Amino acid sequence: MSKIIQSIRGMNDLLPTQTPLWRHVETTLRTVLETYGYQEIRTPLLEATELFSRSIGEVTDIVEKEMFSFTDRNGDSLTLRPEGTACCVRAGIEHSLFYNQVQRLWYMGPMFRHERPQQGRYRQFHQIGAEAYGLSGSDIDAEIIAMTARCWRQLGLSDLQLQINSLGSIAARAAYRSQLVSYLSDHPNQLDEDSQRRLHTNPLRILDSKNPNMQELVTNAPQLLDYLDGESQAHFANLKQLLEQLGISYQINPRLVRGLDYYNRTVFEWVTPHLGGQGTICAGGRYDTLVEQIGGKPTPAIGFAIGIERLTLLLAPTEHHLDNSAPHAYLILVGEAAISQGFRLAEGLRDTLPQLRLLTHCGGGKFKNQFKQADKSGARLAIVIGEEEIIQQQVTIKHLREEKPQIRLPQTEVSGYLKTALGNFTGIN
Ligand code: HAM
Repeated sequence: MSKIIQSIRGMNDLLPTQTPLWRHVETTLRTVLETYGYQEIRTPLLEATELFSRSIGEVTDIVEKEMFSFTDRNGDSLTLRPEGTACCVRAGIEHSLFYNQVQRLWYMGPMFRHERPQQGRYRQFHQIGAEAYGLSGSDIDAEIIAMTARCWRQLGLSDLQLQINSLGSIAARAAYRSQLVSYLSDHPNQLDEDSQRRLHTNPLRILDSKNPNMQELVTNAPQLLDYLDGESQAHFANLKQLLEQLGISYQINPRLVRGLDYYNRTVFEWVTPHLGGQGTICAGGRYDTLVEQIGGKPTPAIGFAIGIERLTLLLAPTEHHLDNSAPHAYLILVGEAAISQGFRLAEGLRDTLPQLRLLTHCGGGKFKNQFKQADKSGARLAIVIGEEEIIQQQVTIKHLREEKPQIRLPQTEVSGYLKTALGNFTGIN
C-alpha cells in the first residue's frame, strides 16, 4: 500500500461537523461589518515578498522567520500572505480607492505564518478583518472598537477584555525608543537571548516578552505613554472618553506594542482568559503612514483582524447545536422505475422550492436500508416512491422526527405539502 499523504503541519481540514459553526461565525461577523458600511474586498493569497517586508517590518518575527516565501519560475520572490492589511493597502493604491474618499473595507480568508503550532496557533489560520481609510480622528477608532464589541455581543461572548494603548507619533516613538534602549542597555545581564538580539533592532518588542525572568525589568522600564506627543495624547484622551460614553470598558495596557511595525497612536486587542498564551482574539490599530510607505498618497488608516479559529474555540462548547445543514427531506426510491420518476419529481421540487434541502437516495437498496440512511441524514421527512406509488403517481410521506401518521399524496401535491409542513421551521415559502 502506498504511503498516506497527510496535511501540512499546522494546516487544518475543516470537516462537515465544524463548518456549520464557522459559517455561523462568518455570517454573524460579516453582517455586523456590513451594517457599519464596510464593503468586501478580496485580494490574492500570493503577493510580492517585498510588500510584507516593507509594511510589517524587516525585523519583526513575521518577516524574519514566519513567512512562507519562495522563488517562482520567473525568479520572483513571492509570499503567502501572513496578514491582510498590507494586501488591502496594496490593492487600494493600485485601484485608486483612497483618493479623496473615505473607504471602509472588510476581508476574510486564510493567512499563513510558519509559527510553532499549538491550540489557537496554526500555520494556516483565518482572519476576518476591517480597515477604514481616510479618517484620522479618534471617532473612527471608537467606532471600530464599538463594532468589534458588537461582534462579541452578536456571538454571545461576554467575557472578552479590551486592552488599549497609544504608540504616539512616529517621532515620539523614536524618542521613547532611545530612552528604552538606554534603560535596557544598563541591565545587560537581565536580557534574555531574544531581547539582546532585539535591543538595537526592535526594542519595543522586548516589552512584550513573556519570559518570567524579565518581568521585573520590563515592569520598571520607562513607559511609552509618558513620551506621547501632545496630539497623540489628545487623540488617546478623546478615544477613552468616547469609549466611556459608549459604555465600553477597557484596560490601558502600556506594554501593548503589537508585533507589526506599521502602527502609530491607537492600538488595541481583545483578549480572553480561556486560551492560555493564544488569548488574543482580535487585534488592530492605527497605521497612518503605511499607505505612503507602500507608495500611495498620505492616507490615515485604522483596522483590526479577528482570528476565526480562536473565536470558534471559545464558541464550540455552547454552539454545537448550530448544525442546520441537515436535509429537510430524504427521497427514498425503490426499484429502477422509481429512480427515473423520483429524479423528475426531485428536480421539479427544486424548481418550485429553491431553498429546499432535499437528499435523493442514490445507490439503490431495500426500503429498510434506505430508511436507515434517511434517519441518519437528520432529515425531518422521508418521501417514498416504491412500486405502488409509481403506478399511482403518488408518494408516501413519513415524518422521521415527529409522531405523525404517514400519508399518501399525488406527486403533483408534494410541493404544496412540503411548503406547509416545513414552512414554519425553515422559512421556506
Ligand atoms: P495580528 O495580531 O498579527 O494582526 O493578527 C490578528 C489576529 O489573528 C490575532 O489576534 C489572532 O486572533 C489571529 N492570529 C494571528 N496569528 C495566528 C495564528 N498563527 N494562528 C491562529 N490565529 C492567529 C494582524 O494581522 C493585523 N493585520 C491586524 C490589523 C488589521 N491591524 C490593522 N488592521
